[in-house]
Formats: sequence, structure tokens, C-alpha cells
Amino acid sequence: RGKRAFIAGIADDNGYGWAIAKSLAAAGAEILVGTWVPALNIFETSLRRGKFDESRVLPDGSLMEITKVYPLDAVYDTPEDVPEDVKTNKRYAGSSKWTVKEVAESVKEDFGSIDILVHSLANGPEVSKPLLETSRYGYLAAISASSYSYVSLLQHFVPIMNPGGASISLTYIASERIIPGYGGGMSSAKAALESDTQVLAFEAGRKHGIRVNTISAGPLRSRAAKAIGFIDMMIDYSSENAPLQKELSAEEVGNAAAFLASPLASAITGAVLYVDNGLNAMGVGV
Ligand code: NAI
Repeated sequence: RGKRAFIAGIADDNGYGWAIAKSLAAAGAEILVGTWVPALNIFETSLRRGKFDESRVLPDGSLMEITKVYPLDAVYDTPEDVPEDVKTNKRYAGSSKWTVKEVAESVKEDFGSIDILVHSLANGPEVSKPLLETSRYGYLAAISASSYSYVSLLQHFVPIMNPGGASISLTYIASERIIPGYGGGMSSAKAALESDTQVLAFEAGRKHGIRVNTISAGPLRSRAAKAIGFIDMMIDYSSENAPLQKELSAEEVGNAAAFLASPLASAITGAVLYVDNGLNAMGVGV
């Protein structure tokens, strides 16, 4: 049987989640997607109307199939956690069972188990503010959406993951080096995500034989990155200063994710894998 992957954090065809889905599909995996509730409608409509058909093309010429799209808000673990104003919000009221626990239950009901879990989501309401000006609310919201969301996803999905399964998240070098502009506690959130990758690798490895890795990706002009406001500068900086002076394609990150999720990486866990044209290795720009 081919492998089954659940990818959290796809709402269009521009981000890393989409590229990872394609690489996994090209390698023969069945694709399930978790899409942020407020973005669900437009994503499903666009899919249905063929808006993504060009970007669904796989190397063998066939189109990537998404078996099922689940509404998901990774900031809420159970229905009891959802505040009244969100529950009654028009964009949320039209969908149901979108807390992390409920999505894991639905996937179990529909498919029984998965082999690969991908976390490709982040959110920081104050990302454009320097850390020194970030509010407690903004900081904790960044950690909740971008770091704890991963702990929660693993917590709820590990019980339905087959032994030998693998999990992958996306991180950014702002966790360990100063990247001015990546504010609002997002640098802190990525540091937490990377540290958690190690602890979760230990716990999920010992208990369930599941591997946990993260990819530190270079800059990509995704929807989320455009919202931060400095993405073009980061792309230019990378092509000027990285060992490999080419633009990074989402597909390169997708392929690295497919490798990490495959048996070829069976001894790799708890790792941060840089997929950034080597930029992380530079000490000064030249
Ligand atoms: P993207 O916009 O394609 O993906 C982010 C996704 O997160 C969106 O689909 C959004 O709807 C979803 N999301 C936000 N809050 C959510 C919530 N509460 N529940 C469920 N989904 C939620 O953008 P991108 O850039 O591909 O981001 C994917 C991952 O890659 C993120 O972790 C990001 O930090 C990371 N990354 C991105 C880099 C870049 O330059 N674009 C560089 C390094 C890492």
C-alpha cells in the first residue's frame, strides 16, 4: 500500500505545503490536507474550478489528487477551547469539527491511519512589529499558532500514525540568527519549534517509532511571507550572498520533505535540515 500523508497548512498553490504535497504525491503518497477555516471556501472553490490545475501537474504528467480537504484551526485543540465569538463567526459557523482533536478523529474515521504528518503553518498577528514592541498577546498568539500547534498536531495524530511514520515542520533561520523584520515573537516561535523537534523526536521515537524533523527553509514568495513585507529583500539577499546564487523553488523544499518522510531517511530524527541554498553557512555576505 502507498503511504498516506496529512498536510496541515495549505490554502493556495504558492506555499511550501502545496509543494510538499506535490513531492509526496509524485512519490506515490495519498494526500489529505488541513486548510485554515477562514481560507477553506476559496481554496475548495479554486480547486474545484480548476484554478490550480496547472500547478497540480506532477513530473509524470498526471495531476496531483487531493483525496480530502479538512477544515482546521490549529489554534484550538478541542471544541471546549473555542470562544463564542469564533464559534458564531460567519466564516467558522459554516464548517464543523475543525479543532485539532476533531480533525484527527475525522481522519481516523475516514482512513484509519496515516504515515506522514506535515506542519506547514504559522501565524503571528504582530509579525511586522519589532520584538521590543511586541505585546504579550501578540507573542503568545505567535507561539500558539506557530509552535504549540505542532505539539498539538503530533499529540493527536501520533496515535493514528503507523510505526515507521514521519513528521515534518517548516522553520526559519530567524530562530538562531538575527533577521530584522521577522518580529512579533515569530523568531521566538521558530526557536521553540526547533527545540520541540528534538524533544518530540525523543518522545515519539521511543514510544511509537516515529521520526520528527524540521526543514529550515530559505525565503519563498508565499502568501504568508508576502504579508510580512520583506520577502523580496530576503530573496535578493540570498541570491547575492548564498553559496548557490539561484532563487530557491518551493519544489526543492518539497523534495527534501519527501526524502525526510521516506525510508531513505530512516535514521534521521530530531534534525534541522537546511534547504536554503546554503545561506545558513555564511558568516558574512560577500
Ligand atoms: P503559506 O501562506 O503557504 O502557509 C501558511 C499557512 O498557514 C496558510 O495556508 C494559512 O492559512 C495557514 N494557517 C495560519 N494560521 C492557521 C491556523 N491557526 N490553523 C491552520 N492553518 C493556519 O506560507 P508558507 O510561507 O509556505 O508557510 C509555510 C511554513 O513555512 C510556515 O511554517 C512558515 O513559517 C515556513 N517558512 C516559510 C518561509 C518563507 O519564506 N515563505 C521561510 C521559512 C519557513
